[in-house]
Amino acid sequence: MSYFRDNIEKMTGYTPGFQPNQVEVVKLNTNENPYPPSPEVLKAIAEIKPEQLRRYPDPMGNAFREAAAQINGVEPDWIMCCNGGDDLLRMAFTAFCDRKRPVAYPVPTYSLYPVLANIQNCKVVEVGFDKEFNLPARLARVKAALTIVCNPNAPSGTIVKADELAELAAEIKGVLLIDEAYVDFAARNCTELVKQFDNVIILRSLSKGYSLAGLRFGYAIAKPDMIQGLLKVKDSYNVDAIAIAAATAAIKDQEYFKQNIEKVKLERKRLTEQLRELGFEMPESSSNFVFAEHKTRKAKEFFDKLVQRNIYVRYWDIAGIENKLRISVGTPEQDDVLLSALKEILDM
Ligand SMILES: Cc1ncc(COP(=O)(O)O)c(C=O)c1O
Repeated sequence: MSYFRDNIEKMTGYTPGFQPNQVEVVKLNTNENPYPPSPEVLKAIAEIKPEQLRRYPDPMGNAFREAAAQINGVEPDWIMCCNGGDDLLRMAFTAFCDRKRPVAYPVPTYSLYPVLANIQNCKVVEVGFDKEFNLPARLARVKAALTIVCNPNAPSGTIVKADELAELAAEIKGVLLIDEAYVDFAARNCTELVKQFDNVIILRSLSKGYSLAGLRFGYAIAKPDMIQGLLKVKDSYNVDAIAIAAATAAIKDQEYFKQNIEKVKLERKRLTEQLRELGFEMPESSSNFVFAEHKTRKAKEFFDKLVQRNIYVRYWDIAGIENKLRISVGTPEQDDVLLSALKEILDM
């Protein structure tokens, strides 16, 4: 007999993207921002007082809530701080799902959702995207307690219009969680929907747009009643004192943030064009990565040959996406290394 609950015994845990130890690699596999965080972040960390570490942190992270509320045009009680966006996803599964309350989401998407569903032991309804990654109409009809739409979607990088998500929110009886971990790189977001609907939660992350994947900080935007309900399942001190100070400094420095985003978007355009010249096809990305498939050659071959050259991109041996590579947008220098290696592999 196992010590573990049946569903935990049977399930496979989440496999994070490979994190190589060496520094001399071109790492384009986990969608980190290639540029450093705002200098204000390092200043805020340097100014941490021993007293802030001796005492427990503010359980609500109010300094961050106020700054994030202002930027998103809501009140601070519409914001909840999280230990990375993943923390909010876990809270959502705990709060809304069980054996009788299924989760639904379009696939392919973020591979953590089924893992959290297995931990929670709830039924999963996966509804396939079409080839253009349009929102599947069936999603509204599956009667899920929690519907998740990753927007922009990972790994496709594609985005669904806010109007379509508004229709979905109005049609379903359960909660609609819009995972906007990558929205900083898109032309629009869905903040307005939380004002229109009681059942909408928006997830944001500071890992990508704010270059703070190592800090672990994200947040939820929702109506205060929804936030109050989620707080019941939150760890008491889910964000630490250093993280609150650093994340607050990052989100307040909008000028640096916007410049950083523009650089990534510009490079995304160049990378997309160059990859297309090499025979790759990919949908337009609203994110900081592209989802590329070569017209004639197999993704696995590229992946293996890139690893031999210390270049890491993301590859999944999963039916339906086994011929795709998800490539994070790097600096122009990193992307040039990748592009030359691809040319070499292609004998061009
Ligand atoms: C789609 C999506 N949602 C949420 C997250 C969570 O991000 P974090 O926990 O780093 O804030 C990620 C991280 O890669 C992601 O890809």
